[in-house]
Amino acid sequence: MSVDAAGFEAWMRAHQALAEQTLEQVLPAAEHAPARLHAAMRYAASGGGKRVRPLLAFAAAEVVQAPVSRVALAGAAVELIHAYSLVHDDMPCMDDDTLRRGKPTVHVQYDEATALLVGDALQSLAFQVLSEPSLADDPACQLEMVRLLAQASGSRGMAGGQAIDLASVGQSLDVAELEFMHVHKTGALIRCATLLGALCGRPLDESERAHLDRFAKAIGLAFQVVDDLLDAEASTATLGKTAGKDAEANKPTYVTVLGLRAAKEWARDLRAQADAALVPLGPRAARLGQLADFIVKRQF
Ligand code: IPE
Ligand code: IPE
Ligand code: MG
Ligand code: MG
Ligand code: MG
Repeated sequence: MSVDAAGFEAWMRAHQALAEQTLEQVLPAAEHAPARLHAAMRYAASGGGKRVRPLLAFAAAEVVQAPVSRVALAGAAVELIHAYSLVHDDMPCMDDDTLRRGKPTVHVQYDEATALLVGDALQSLAFQVLSEPSLADDPACQLEMVRLLAQASGSRGMAGGQAIDLASVGQSLDVAELEFMHVHKTGALIRCATLLGALCGRPLDESERAHLDRFAKAIGLAFQVVDDLLDAEASTATLGKTAGKDAEANKPTYVTVLGLRAAKEWARDLRAQADAALVPLGPRAARLGQLADFIVKRQF
């Protein structure tokens, strides 16, 4: 391993731990009533996952040297939305999955009604965390952050992408339609995490924001291309979720639409687009580049 790679590994582990710790702090105690709901929220959101969205927020924050304590809250808000999206995504009315992060899914471990409420409550908690007064000095900037997360989670973002995903079962999508679906269901939150991290710092100028956004758009799409590839090629044991589900459910993915080889090339191409967007941001964007590399090369 090169010195650089070792440095990135250490950075990633430290910031995953910080993301974990922040979630621990903001999630309601499992002993507080309603205890079963709170226990299920903790089951869904703490102790697992790669924490890619908070990591993107931390890395983007390095570009503008934003205070880490604020970024941790912004990253936690996005991660809470992500955790909620996974709980609902796994439910029998959606992907009907029984394994997530190596554990039984929330509706299996608890019950369907609890899984539904866990999603609802994690979503509300995300907005509560993002509106914490300690998160920003400028209320207008904080309001913009809240609006960005609402857009990224809603019908023009993740929830909309999930609706398209469900409507696409058994359909043959063209590349543009597939991209539209992936950009919404996964790309939107990843893009949002990156921007929120940077917005925790000094105001961004227009061109900085445009470069960051171009990076985040490319890497958000790459993330789901890789997720599609892993579903087809990796094992259930490595993924901690059931492999081969997309084919079993007859879902159009980058693997079915482009084929394995072209899907891998597309992921590499998106990685290069993301990299190119970082160049004008200078050396402080190096962490984002390393993270983009991790996103595209990950094995789980
Ligand atoms: C899985 O996301 C669902 C998608 C949006 C593709 P992650 O791969 O980030 O899942 P965790 O958080 O690491 O478990
Ligand atoms: C999920 O996409 C995207 C979400 C918004 C949760 P997938 O359905 O492909 O995610 P996995 O493979 O179950 O993690
Ligand atoms: Mg799904
Ligand atoms: Mg799924
Ligand atoms: Mg998947």
